[in-house]
Amino acid sequence: MGKVLVIGCGGVASVAIHKCCQNSEAFDALCIASRTKSKCDALRDKLAATTKTKITTAQVDANNVEQLVNLIRAEQPDVVLNLALPYQDLTIMEACLATGKHYIDTANYEPEDTAKFEYKWQWDYHDRFVKAGITALLGSGFDPGVTSVFSAYALKHHFDEIHYIDILDCNGGDHGYPFATNFNPEINIREVSAKGSYWENGAWVETEPMAIKREYDFAGVGKKDMYLLHHEELESLALHIPGIRRIRFFMTFGQSYLTHLKCLENVGMTSIEPIEFEGRQIVPLQFLKAVLPDPASLGPRTVGKTNIGCIFRGIKDGKEKTYYLYNICDHQECYREVGSQAVSYTTGVPAMIGAMLVMDGRWQRPGVWNMEQFDPDPFMEALNRWGLPWHEDFHPALVD
Ligand SMILES: NC(=O)c1ccc[n+]([C@@H]2O[C@H](COP(=O)([O-])OP(=O)(O)OC[C@H]3O[C@@H](n4cnc5c(N)ncnc54)[C@H](OP(=O)(O)O)[C@@H]3O)[C@@H](O)[C@H]2O)c1
Repeated sequence: MGKVLVIGCGGVASVAIHKCCQNSEAFDALCIASRTKSKCDALRDKLAATTKTKITTAQVDANNVEQLVNLIRAEQPDVVLNLALPYQDLTIMEACLATGKHYIDTANYEPEDTAKFEYKWQWDYHDRFVKAGITALLGSGFDPGVTSVFSAYALKHHFDEIHYIDILDCNGGDHGYPFATNFNPEINIREVSAKGSYWENGAWVETEPMAIKREYDFAGVGKKDMYLLHHEELESLALHIPGIRRIRFFMTFGQSYLTHLKCLENVGMTSIEPIEFEGRQIVPLQFLKAVLPDPASLGPRTVGKTNIGCIFRGIKDGKEKTYYLYNICDHQECYREVGSQAVSYTTGVPAMIGAMLVMDGRWQRPGVWNMEQFDPDPFMEALNRWGLPWHEDFHPALVD
């Protein structure tokens, strides 16, 4: 039993907090701290009568290390679960170092003024976390997160060597809007408008945005177009899966989403360069975020399913083998259970599981680690228990 401090109170945090409260055997206390305290209070009021977990709330600016340190000292959590934005990763890691608390997040650090994400900044903290005797677990969402655990599980139980991994992220959900993003619009648009890339034979191959397109027939969803993107788990899996020859990441997008995105890009609305507007500086992408639907409001409107998983190809006992591990999640079922759609749900559940495994010691090891560096078995078991059951296919269709 222990206490978690959750930083952020948006779409993903709301699901993770619901799940911590369902899992009060592990989490007997929880503090929700975010920029807007009224959101934390509203969630506490909704959940307090339904759980044995004791909930407190606080206001914090997670860009400010001193405020974070004071908060952690006051709340004395066992682990800090960062569900704010990737911009806050380093300040929260600094605060964990200053207070000797374990750290978990779901997305790697990205500087606010350059749309570039990579693990380097956070991996550079490894020696300091080792010295402090505390664990940092990076990327405990679905992708990265569950996809990384799937890779470790496939390697442990099904292959002697994995040569190819294709990660397929399909959202077959329909929210009825011509254009909306399923998680934070600023982060989402920065991700999908960047150049694509994949890892092949020891080097990165870069592509123009959305230049590589394939169609795939997803279980539970049907046929969808998917596009190759750069994605953060490629970077760590390329290092941690021995013998790997190629890793690619594909995400599905509908035509309406792509047409709107192209148009917004063409008129400059996705830019992160500040511009002068009526005497003040604004960032076009941040303004766009303000006019788009809040992802947290999509829950009641979204119908359909997500299907996210990994297709592995490699060698077992001298023979070629293929193996597909995936999860199907239904938007409306998620909404009925926790009041959120499946994209927040598929991230929030693994965030709770990562926090639980670090807190109870099963995934504790001083240093900064990616998900595939721990034993996948307790995580895989917890996915089945906490709402994200996985399926196996030993003869999947492959992506050319
Ligand atoms: N690995 C995966 O599979 C995966 C998938 C989806 C998302 N993610 C990650 O999950 C994280 C949360 O996404 P989301 O969709 O939940 O975003 P969101 O709905 O925008 O929520 C972000 C929360 O962080 C708070 N926040 C922002 N800046 C802050 C600051 N300086 N201090 C304190 N709190 C601050 C926001 O406060 P306000 O309420 O005041 O705005 C909001 O409550 C992101 O890092 C995203 O990249 C990971």
